[in-house]
Amino acid sequence: MKRTALIVFAAVAAAVVISACQTESAQQRFEARWAGEELEEIIASMEDQFGGFDQTMMETNYRYNELYWAGYDGNWGYAEYHLEKIVGSMERGFIRRPAREASASQFLNTNAPRLMETIEGEDRDAFLDYFSRFAASCNTCHEMEAVPFVQVIIPETRTSLVRF
Ligand code: HEC
Repeated sequence: MKRTALIVFAAVAAAVVISACQTESAQQRFEARWAGEELEEIIASMEDQFGGFDQTMMETNYRYNELYWAGYDGNWGYAEYHLEKIVGSMERGFIRRPAREASASQFLNTNAPRLMETIEGEDRDAFLDYFSRFAASCNTCHEMEAVPFVQVIIPETRTSLVRF
């Protein structure tokens, strides 16, 4: 009898400790400056601050322009750098907005790799020639994703400050 009582007591004590720990972790407070106080709230704030696909596209837009002038100048290292960054930025964008990924398949699987071939071949004529297909592929995705008013052109005025 004594032994049974001891086991029951130990089980009850363990349950009390476990439930105290759970309550404590559920109520854990963080001292973030602005992100919130509870973990869930902090994660939600972080996700909001990263933004959606527009952040990816603002980065893409800058890199697209740099990419064009890099190829124009025959600065192949810089061109390769930007094309890789565009693809990387989009891949991160699809983690945030997975529903957008399907519309980019032509761009990612055909047009970006083809442009990369012209860069790797250091072929300026082929690069400039293919760039219009590449730009058209950006616009195709915009049409598929219901932002047809975003039509990018082939850069006309040099804004890149990088020179080769
Ligand atoms: C997934 C297919 C997709 C591809 C591929 C794509 N875009 Fe976009 N783009 C979008 C979507 C969707 C938006 C609108 C984003 C939003 O509403 O959050 C957008 C918006 C933009 C904007 C406006 C961004 C802003 O908020 O100021 C620019 C500029 C842009 N894209 C440039 C490009 C360029 C340049 C390329 C090709 C190198 C490209 N995009 C390829 C889907 C795509």
